[in-house]
Amino acid sequence: METVVSGIRSTGNLHLGNYYGAIQNFIKMQHEYNCYFFIADLHSLTTHPTPENLHNNVKQVLVEYLAAGIDPEKATIYVQSHVPEISELYLYLNMNAYLGELERATSFKDKVRANPDNVNAGLLTYPVLMAADIIIHKATKVPVGKDQEQHLEMARTFGNRFNRLYNHDYFPEPYAFSYGSNLVKIPGLDGKGKMGKSEGEGNAVFLSDTPEAIRKKVMRAVTDGGPTVENQEKPVEIQNLFDLMAVVSSPDTYEHFDNLYNTCQVRYGDLKKQLAEDMIIATAPIRARINEIANDAAYLKKVAHFGAEKARESASKTIREVREIIGFRSF
Ligand code: TRP
Repeated sequence: METVVSGIRSTGNLHLGNYYGAIQNFIKMQHEYNCYFFIADLHSLTTHPTPENLHNNVKQVLVEYLAAGIDPEKATIYVQSHVPEISELYLYLNMNAYLGELERATSFKDKVRANPDNVNAGLLTYPVLMAADIIIHKATKVPVGKDQEQHLEMARTFGNRFNRLYNHDYFPEPYAFSYGSNLVKIPGLDGKGKMGKSEGEGNAVFLSDTPEAIRKKVMRAVTDGGPTVENQEKPVEIQNLFDLMAVVSSPDTYEHFDNLYNTCQVRYGDLKKQLAEDMIIATAPIRARINEIANDAAYLKKVAHFGAEKARESASKTIREVREIIGFRSF
């Protein structure tokens, strides 16, 4: 069975875009592959979180992933820092990662531009740690978005370089994976691009949002003056609302409002009310589980320990072999 690895950065709450764009794929993959899903807390150190923030963010992501349906009995779900073998492999890979190629990475250049006073070495070697995350389990499939393509290419480079250096066909090549046409677009509520937590207040609907918060955000979504000609094309901000409706509402509801729009009878207030109620229905079970799991410290502890154990089983086997290949031998 092929192995899947994906890392989730522990920054902030999950929104509908994360859920429909990524997590639903994880949930499907966990039945079909040997899956490792981890929380990338070592990566988060590049921005120097306080100990409280670090811990709370890791916990929040763990809680929300479990609540959304990632099953710790099916997939191995763990916290990156609980598997020290990853850091060891990162050290070995760093010896064969070159300054030039690391400096050329788009994500590095973006971060330097955004934070010129915090250009630390961890930022530079972020792709090396990511490569270690993936190849420590000899994964071949990595469900990530387009923005991670270059990192995956670097992971292949570092793995292949290791293989060549030691003349050993050891690490397989990892590739980005998605279920074909299954990439649904989840727009935000600001009438512009995709849903994201950095796109401004009110643009994203979080899985943990209360019904009141969802209603408020949706009612404030950007609209226009309404259609004036029958069957006219929808402007972006209106199409966005229909795209969201396509995901959370029933086909009948979608068709109903689509017909109203096409006959110039649509009332955006009604449409938004319906959209908000359907979002509330879609997220209610997840929100209930978030609250339940967040308060169950014993369960979280059990899941984290179980996941770390399973991940370390796989990681320590790789590290044992890698040490041997490199030439570290016991006396
Ligand atoms: N870089 C990824 C992101 O920003 C997170 C990540 C870290 C990751 N390690 C990984 C993703 C390993 C896939 C596999 O989203």
